[in-house]
Amino acid sequence: MIINRPPMGWNSWNTFGNDINEKLIFEIADAMVSSGLRDCGYEYIVIDDCWQKKTRNEQGLLEADPEKFPHGMKYVADYIHSKGLKFGMYSCCGAYTCAEFPGSYGHEYADAATFAEWEIDFLKYDYCFRDNNIPSEIHYRKMGLALANCGRDILFSACNFGVNHTENWIKTTGAHMWRSTADIFDCWGSIRNIVEHQFELLTTNYRGCFNDMDMLVVGMDGNGNVARDKRLSFEEYKLHFSAWALFGSPLMIGCDIRNMSEETKAILMNKEVLAVSQDLACNQVALHKHPPYDQFLAWRLLDGGDIAVGVFNMGDEPSINFSGWMLPQEFGWTPESNTRLLLRDLWDGSEKYLDNDIIMECELPPHSCRMFRVSLVKK
Ligand code: GLA
Repeated sequence: MIINRPPMGWNSWNTFGNDINEKLIFEIADAMVSSGLRDCGYEYIVIDDCWQKKTRNEQGLLEADPEKFPHGMKYVADYIHSKGLKFGMYSCCGAYTCAEFPGSYGHEYADAATFAEWEIDFLKYDYCFRDNNIPSEIHYRKMGLALANCGRDILFSACNFGVNHTENWIKTTGAHMWRSTADIFDCWGSIRNIVEHQFELLTTNYRGCFNDMDMLVVGMDGNGNVARDKRLSFEEYKLHFSAWALFGSPLMIGCDIRNMSEETKAILMNKEVLAVSQDLACNQVALHKHPPYDQFLAWRLLDGGDIAVGVFNMGDEPSINFSGWMLPQEFGWTPESNTRLLLRDLWDGSEKYLDNDIIMECELPPHSCRMFRVSLVKK
């Protein structure tokens, strides 16, 4: 199974944690369709931890908690599939999951067979209560091989927080995406840590095995399982989404999509930003840091020849001028191309030509960004 674009969908953990059940998941599936999210490309509905019974059954198999999922998981899969969506579930490489439900350690092949029988399409595979005598990669190779032989196409989403230099071995496991960070929270410090951690991982994101910066907190607005005292602002959510799209991370929504504000919809359904995220070329991101300040500019060549550019102010300084940061020659542009560079702002739709050698002049408030699509236009 080959995954060509960063996966997009929804995951229950960020907002609902343990508070999940069949009715909620069906309502989420309905909202995915009625809100227009499905038509924007969000396709997976993933039930995270806490769906299981506390013990395996007499045959040693995993079972769903009958109070939360009274009709079992195949029934949930059928409903999600009937909406034109795909169904994801969760397990863990240790003896227990992170929330202390039964994990798949020692049961990898049986569990892969169970998941295939339930007709799931995605498995998130966590890293708690593992056997420390076994290297991380063996834990992931076991489930990777079990899934690859289970008779069904199941996207394998590894979640070991990037420890033990995951980037060096994850592609040996058959994983289609891998978490490179600790857990996300709905607060600025968390977004900043995750984004800045990516600077050393720019050469490690590949089509087919995507670097997962964790589920989105856009639209949580201070509510839910990973909420913190000081929620992100609208501008911070825009920065968060822009960074995830530009860096090529999977986009798994974490808010309650049954009740999205207009602002949340405007972010999650910005088709021009989504087009950058889903660009098939999956080229490497180039980075300009601006020491000693907290600003950076990142860009990526897109399929078809345009260039996606993001300018980010991670700092607390009230106003920063980015003028003169970068010359178009750094993209590979030269005057002999007989073109002008047209900059389109992907958040406000404004356009302007670059008539001099300066890539952009823009002032950014603290914790905000601008995102552009640059095109070479014939003179
Ligand atoms: C870990 C993962 C989270 C979530 C929880 C569930 O912390 O990183 O994304 O899956 O486990 O217990």
